[in-house]
Amino acid sequence: MFDVEEIRKDFPILGKEINGKKLIYFDNAATTQKPREVIEGIKFFYENINANPIRSLHYLAEKATEAYNEARKKVAEFINASPEEIVFVRNATEGINLVSFAVPFKKGDSIVTSYLEHHSNILPWLRLKEEGINVEFADVDENYDLKMEIYENLPENTKLVTVTHESNVSGTINDVEKISNLVHKKGALFLVDLAQSIPHMKIDIKKIGADFAAFSGHKMLGPFGIGVLYINKRIHNILNPFLEGGEMIKDVKLNRIEYADLPYFYEAGTQNIEGAFGLGIAIDYLNKIGMNEIENYEEKLKKHMFERIKELKKVKVFSGKSKKYGAILSFNIEGLHPHDVAYLLDKEGIAIRSGFHCAQPFIEDKLKQNGTARASLYFYNTIEEIDKFIEVLKEIERKV
Ligand code: ALA
Repeated sequence: MFDVEEIRKDFPILGKEINGKKLIYFDNAATTQKPREVIEGIKFFYENINANPIRSLHYLAEKATEAYNEARKKVAEFINASPEEIVFVRNATEGINLVSFAVPFKKGDSIVTSYLEHHSNILPWLRLKEEGINVEFADVDENYDLKMEIYENLPENTKLVTVTHESNVSGTINDVEKISNLVHKKGALFLVDLAQSIPHMKIDIKKIGADFAAFSGHKMLGPFGIGVLYINKRIHNILNPFLEGGEMIKDVKLNRIEYADLPYFYEAGTQNIEGAFGLGIAIDYLNKIGMNEIENYEEKLKKHMFERIKELKKVKVFSGKSKKYGAILSFNIEGLHPHDVAYLLDKEGIAIRSGFHCAQPFIEDKLKQNGTARASLYFYNTIEEIDKFIEVLKEIERKV
């Protein structure tokens, strides 16, 4: 039984007052709040387990290795992958950058990304453009759904297609299964950015059929500084090294290096073990609530938010138009800069994000805006919070 009031008690920060007002946290696309189990779990790790895993053989090192392996197993099960397909990285950004170094691109290859992307899924490819790789952008229609033509007729020598599962601005949820099928028909590789979708819905990576998938722990109740890059087993032996150093090798001679198998191949140096441990606890928490329950509840919140925002006269909305979309409201109030909207909401204890949301090409070229205000929800938000948010916006609108 999904009981939001009970759930909220698990998140200490949600009881805080900001500027003398009850906190309403609507900046979940930037980062989510953490349940007590994650916060205390990290403390538990340092008080009971802390040692450098894999390397040493003493009791604590064995315990740390077990904890690290267990975290990897939890992530793998969460997305229906195998543990050796799970590489721990810092965040989705690092995962995507890693792919840009790992895939053996050559001059004349093509990469297809899209207009809906976060900068982290644009900049690594623009760097490769400088090296003679052709980079194309899938366009969007008037509802911010991706136009499928480019995937149906991929450019010559397409080596990699990359797309976000959910836009952090328009909330568009892309049909990544369909894109994945089209990409694989042409023998190209498929990378999906799950950063915005995985906190909110059940992900089955086998069903999507991706070769790579990247996401961040901190957007799904986990700590900062830990993320995941999924790499499909079938391509493990075609990839270049990324960072080189300790524990990513089997044998080192000064004239010959034998590399370790994945996932260790991409985990050079001491990793964020505490972060992986915390992410494992976050996944336990999400499983306990249930991803289907989370999705159903957020559906109700989303409908309410998009219905009520229509009551405002001077608000223009830039999300929620696509065939499928998440609980992200991007908007502007006529005559006000988005930062001013964020500032005025903050005075009432309501936290949102404003600006380009690291997706400047989409906001400038497609929305024709100089930024937006963005309210992004999670399963610990409530209908009452949305109502309060709307009342405050009405007050702001009256004063413009
Ligand atoms: N990419 C995160 C956001 O959309 C930080 O806010």
